[in-house]
Amino acid sequence: MTQDELKQAVAQAAVDYVVEQVPEGSIIGVGTGSTANCFIDALAKHRDRYRGAVASSEATHKRLAGHGFTVFDLNDVDKIPVYVDGADEIDGGLHMIKGGGGALTREKIVAAVADCFVCIADGSKLVKTLGKFLLPVEVIPMARAHVARQLVALGGEPFWRQGFVTDNGNVILDVRGLHISDPKTLETQINQIAGVVTNGLFALRPANVLLLGTVQGVDKHG
Ligand code: 5RP
Repeated sequence: MTQDELKQAVAQAAVDYVVEQVPEGSIIGVGTGSTANCFIDALAKHRDRYRGAVASSEATHKRLAGHGFTVFDLNDVDKIPVYVDGADEIDGGLHMIKGGGGALTREKIVAAVADCFVCIADGSKLVKTLGKFLLPVEVIPMARAHVARQLVALGGEPFWRQGFVTDNGNVILDVRGLHISDPKTLETQINQIAGVVTNGLFALRPANVLLLGTVQGVDKHG
């Protein structure tokens, strides 16, 4: 099975999960990236079952609207039973690194509102210890150099993601070499640096369920 086929398989498994578990008329939280795109395309068949969706990026908003979903502003929504999104890495405790697509801040906000975070990922994303994937950090532009120095002090090697501006008008530093043995503490430490909007560790709010695509089929964890 190709990686694309694994993404389609986990996306379909997530749609089955949502159809089974989430009451009709709900608003669904939707993530960003190629796996989330597969989910959106597969959910489109069931569009009329739900009131609509909240998007974690402009790209996801556009794709949802293209399928005819009503896309709500998060400020107009007080309940999201489920949020479905991919990850760049996920460990056995369902802590993740996210933000490869640069949508980490809005993803973290929508995930914070959701009752249940369903992570959909192909088997290559499951790791023992987070940190091989460079950790994305969204930064207010004027603070870029300051934040980079603070990340070096934490043991990392930050790289400015060239030519990329987030949906919130900020920049991304991708950090190599961080030792992530305690993801909750590191998530908190990095978020305390002045100028950081948020970082791509999702440990304080991990996934509740992981649907992992393997050649043997989709495994459910959590
Ligand atoms: C975007 C993300 C994505 O969920 C993550 O990058 C995984 O993407 P893909 O499904 O394309 O592998 O965090 O900000």
